[in-house]
Amino acid sequence: MGNGSGLWATKSVDQLRKDADAEHGLKRSLTALDLVMLGIGAIIGTGIFVLTGRAAAVNAGPAVALSFVAGGVASAFAGLCYSEMASMIPISGSAYTYAYATMGELVAWIIGWDLILEYLVAASTVSVGWSGYVVAFLHDAFGVELPKAWTSAPVIWNEKQLAFEFTGAYVNVPAIVIVLAVTALLVRGVKESARINSIIVFMKVAVVLLFIAFAARFVKTENWHPFIPANQGSFGKFGVSGIFQGATMVFFAYIGFDAVSTAAQESKNPQRDLPIGILLSLAICTVLYIIVSMILTGVVSYTKLNVPHPIAVGVEATGQLWLATAVEIGAIAGLSSVMLVMLLGQPRIFFAMAHDGLFPKAAAKIHPRFGTPYVTTIITGLVCALCGGVLPIDILAELTSIGTLFAFVLVSIGVMILRIKRPDIPRAFRVPGGAYVVPILGAVTSGVLMYTATTATIIRLFVWMAVGMAIYFAYGRKHSRLRAIREGRASN
Ligand code: ALA
Repeated sequence: MGNGSGLWATKSVDQLRKDADAEHGLKRSLTALDLVMLGIGAIIGTGIFVLTGRAAAVNAGPAVALSFVAGGVASAFAGLCYSEMASMIPISGSAYTYAYATMGELVAWIIGWDLILEYLVAASTVSVGWSGYVVAFLHDAFGVELPKAWTSAPVIWNEKQLAFEFTGAYVNVPAIVIVLAVTALLVRGVKESARINSIIVFMKVAVVLLFIAFAARFVKTENWHPFIPANQGSFGKFGVSGIFQGATMVFFAYIGFDAVSTAAQESKNPQRDLPIGILLSLAICTVLYIIVSMILTGVVSYTKLNVPHPIAVGVEATGQLWLATAVEIGAIAGLSSVMLVMLLGQPRIFFAMAHDGLFPKAAAKIHPRFGTPYVTTIITGLVCALCGGVLPIDILAELTSIGTLFAFVLVSIGVMILRIKRPDIPRAFRVPGGAYVVPILGAVTSGVLMYTATTATIIRLFVWMAVGMAIYFAYGRKHSRLRAIREGRASN
């Protein structure tokens, strides 16, 4: 049983562990190295391969490298907090589960609803990035020209008019196709997923390293002047505010390290290995990102980078055309693994929420033959394909980033709450510097990045959360399993 009552009822950590043992029985096969690979598999994707270019061209100029530093700092604080939580509550619901244990059902619901932005909407974002690279690859390698009307979003957001505008395109077909393909794979079960993921991770890290090794020689330092272009009169358009708004955008590149924590129940030694998986994958990616962004803005003027495949454009500027093709292939494979991990994580979170009664029980059905949570996987895939098919990448990415930052704020606060409420629970990993320093810094840095998001993004987050609250009060609150146990209507 938990503590507190009503909306603030928390699930006790003991109850969480009991639920986990009862409902899953997943095989514990993943080592620390697998978890690091899973982390890198989820992290390196659209952020570095696509959004770096946009953030440099529109917000920060060459100082996009500083945007990456800012995003890395916020992620490091959050990564430390996730590590403490994961080492204490090694259960696959990730932030949703942590919130249920610390801040009660309402906050858990809020975070679970919010995580849809992080996982499902992230996968949609990545599908649009994937589409951009496929179009470029077919063009560069085979001279095939796919029509823009069928490979881009039918709407874009006009920041000045604060309204959507039609682009004349119909729908982004490659984005839809890849999401449906990954979904089909996930319904069938991904037995070899860790191994497939590791192969893809090697490929994409190799491509990033090749880019660094070959493009570094072609850097023209004049491209770095001015390093921080002067602000153009509005917030976020270059200057210091541009660095921060760029950080909110490229923060997307770091998302995914927390997906490691959704594999908690498949990890051999979760208490020790989850923090290793989270922190090491994050550290490796941070270093790669800062170097890549410096080199990219060094080989080509940032003004030319607002394209769907900026790294390939950077390579083309060096004249190494074979490398451009290698980058495109690496990006296409690499982005697929990000979608795989995200579309694997989302149904598990839905599944946990359905198990707790906050979504209809039917959603928690397991496929009789494939043994996968197929209902939640298919629903996730269809909604994800729809978003990827019709929405532009910037809207999707910003929504993902703000949703994730919000989860980070709540997890950071959760670490403090549990230190106060349950100092007795063994923690294999503790954030350094005591109960407050890192969690407060984590909440503040993530909060600052949320604050510097565009107004439209902040409004979208509010609308999304309002819809979530309406669903909770109309459905979840009445069907909560914890509430039923408390009122004696269900057994423990
Ligand atoms: N970090 C992941 C990406 O950049 C979500 O695609």
